[in-house]
Formats: sequence, structure tokens, C-alpha cells
Amino acid sequence: MITTVEPGGAVHGMTASSVTSVSLDPPLVLVVIGEERQSHVLIETTGRFGMSILETGQTDIAKHFATPPESRGEINARHITTLSGTPVIANAIAAMDCRVTAAHEAGDHTVFIGEVEAIAVGAGEPLVWFQRQFGGFTEGR
Ligand SMILES: Cc1cc2nc3c(=O)[nH]c(=O)nc-3n(C[C@H](O)[C@H](O)[C@H](O)COP(=O)(O)O)c2cc1C
Repeated sequence: MITTVEPGGAVHGMTASSVTSVSLDPPLVLVVIGEERQSHVLIETTGRFGMSILETGQTDIAKHFATPPESRGEINARHITTLSGTPVIANAIAAMDCRVTAAHEAGDHTVFIGEVEAIAVGAGEPLVWFQRQFGGFTEGR
């Protein structure tokens, strides 16, 4: 989950699976965002984003923020918290406050690289997107 702040101060979110770690020192992560997404312009404008790693009990949040913004309605405020001023998802496995350090255009998407300036670590099993469905990992045999 990628979270940003709208000009009026409202929290904006977007479900993202094109997310990875990049560097340990300094701590960098990346997210790849389509240029049509509202989150794209918000990240460009604010220069910041929140990144939250959801757990299997948070499927509804992932579905909510994967729905186009005009049809998703309001998220329940209890699902949002802040980390050093940046909105993130409450009770996620991990949540990070990131400052954009680079933005690379790649086709119709942009690779935003962010330096992790704050992190909160929780617990849980990671939410997985596979074969167009949300689920979790099962132990290998
Ligand atoms: C599992 C899943 C993963 C997604 N990953 C990405 C992604 O990495 N990058 C992206 O641009 N959109 C991704 N999307 C689509 C966005 O979540 C969706 O277009 C969302 O409505 C964009 O919101 P926004 O326009 O408010 O930013 C994904 C959707 C799903 C269901």
C-alpha cells in the first residue's frame, strides 16, 4: 500500500504490488506507479509517500485502494495512522515514511525511489496477490 496526502490534507491510498527494497545503506525502496494514477501526481507534488506491507487480514483495505478513487468511497479512519507525519496503514506488518530521492520514467509508469526516514514494524502473515486473488503463503513441503 502506498499512501500520500492530497492538497486539502486528505489521505490518499493506492494498492501496489510493484514494490521492492533497493538499498540497505542508505535504506531505499521503490514503487512503480502508472502515470494515470492519482497517486502519481501526489507523490510528484509532495515528494513523499508512505509504504505499508499489509497482512492477510487486511484484504479489504487492499481492495478498497485498488478501486478507482471516484468509486471507492471513504476508508474507515481506524485503518489509517501516521508515521512521522506521513499517513500509513494501521496494524500493517511494516510501515515506512519515505522521501523521494529519484524518479525514473519507464514507459507509462514511473519508478519512484524513496529513502526510508522512519519505520514501524508490526507482525502478521503477508498479504499475497496471486492469480488475480488475494491470499497468503502456505508452508512449503
Ligand atoms: C494487487 C494489485 C496491485 C497493484 N499494483 C499496482 C502498482 O504496483 N502500480 C500501479 O500503478 N498500480 C497498481 N495497481 C492498480 C492501482 O491500485 C489502482 O489503479 C488504484 O485505483 C490507483 O489509485 P489512484 O489513482 O488513486 O492512485 C494494483 C492493483 C492491484 C489490485
